[in-house]
Amino acid sequence: MMKSNSLAVTVIAKQFNGAGNVSLTLASRSGQPLPAFTPGAHIDVLIPDGGKRQYSLCSAPADHYEICVRLDLRSTGGSRWLHNELTVGDELQISAPRNHFPLPQAPRTLLFAAGIGLTPLLVMAETLAARQADFTLHLYLKRADELAFSPRLSKLGARVVIHYSSEGDSLRQRVPDDLTQPENAALVFCGPVGFMDHLQQLAFQFGWAEAQLHSERFQPKTTVTAGGAFEVEIASSGARFAVGAQQTIAEVLENAGLELPLSCEQGMCGSCITGVLAGEPDHRDEVLSKQERAANNCIVLCCSRAHSPLLVLDL
Ligand code: FES
Repeated sequence: MMKSNSLAVTVIAKQFNGAGNVSLTLASRSGQPLPAFTPGAHIDVLIPDGGKRQYSLCSAPADHYEICVRLDLRSTGGSRWLHNELTVGDELQISAPRNHFPLPQAPRTLLFAAGIGLTPLLVMAETLAARQADFTLHLYLKRADELAFSPRLSKLGARVVIHYSSEGDSLRQRVPDDLTQPENAALVFCGPVGFMDHLQQLAFQFGWAEAQLHSERFQPKTTVTAGGAFEVEIASSGARFAVGAQQTIAEVLENAGLELPLSCEQGMCGSCITGVLAGEPDHRDEVLSKQERAANNCIVLCCSRAHSPLLVLDL
C-alpha cells in the first residue's frame, strides 16, 4: 500500500504517444483539485505487485495530471501493466508530486532530452516559452515514428530542434553549436544513462561548470550500495542500529519497524532524503546536488552509506 500522502485518481484518457509510449491522463476521484506542481515534478504510481514507478508530470501545471509511459521490453510489472492492462475508467493510487529537478533560473537555458526524457523538459520548455525566455530544446530520437507530443512541440516552433540518429544526427555524430557556448547558460538534460553520461562529458569538455548542469536520471547508474559496516542512530530516540556490509540503511531501519517514505529505492527519486546531524555520509545517490553532498547534512537512505563509524539521523 502507498502511504499516507497517496491520492486516488481515475484514468480519464489513454492514448498512444509515439512508438512504444502511452500517455495517461489522470483526474482526482474525490472531486478536490489535484495538488499543484512545478515543471520537473514527478509522481509515484502504485502498480498491482505493490511496487512503485516514478513518472514525470508532463501536463501543463494547471491541468489534470498527465504521464507518458515508455514500454520497457524487459518490464515484468510496471510499464507492461500500464500499457496492456490499465484502461480508461480504472482507479490508480499515486503520490503527491515531488520535485528534485526544478527549472533553473538563467539568462539562457539549453534543454537536452533523449527519448522519454522529453517529459519533464517539455513542461520546462513551455514554461520558458510563456515567460518569453531564451531557450532551445534539443530532442534526440532514433526514428521519426518515436516522436511524442508532436502538436505541443510544433507550438514551440523553431526553439525545438529534433535530431534523429537514423539520419546520422545523434549527439555522438554531431554536437550542436550551442553546447559549445556555456556563457550565461544553464544546461538541463534528461534521458537514458548513456546519453546523459556522454552529454555531461561533452559539457565539461566545452567548459561548462558543474553548477550550470541540471539533470534527472530515470535509470540508475550502476550504484553500488554495499560497503563497510557502520552504525546509525535515531536522534529522537537514541536507538542505534548496525548496518552490515551488504545492507542499506533503509533496509535496516524498515526491519526495525520504522516507516520510511521509500519510493524508487535506487537513489533517484529523493523521497528518502533524511537529515544528518552528525557523522560523514558516503553519498551513492543520483539525486543530491554537488552542494548538498558537500554540506553533508543529509543522506539518501536507500543507497548511501557512511565514511564515519556512526551517522546520527534526524529521525
Ligand atoms: S527511495 Fe528514491 S531516493 Fe531513496
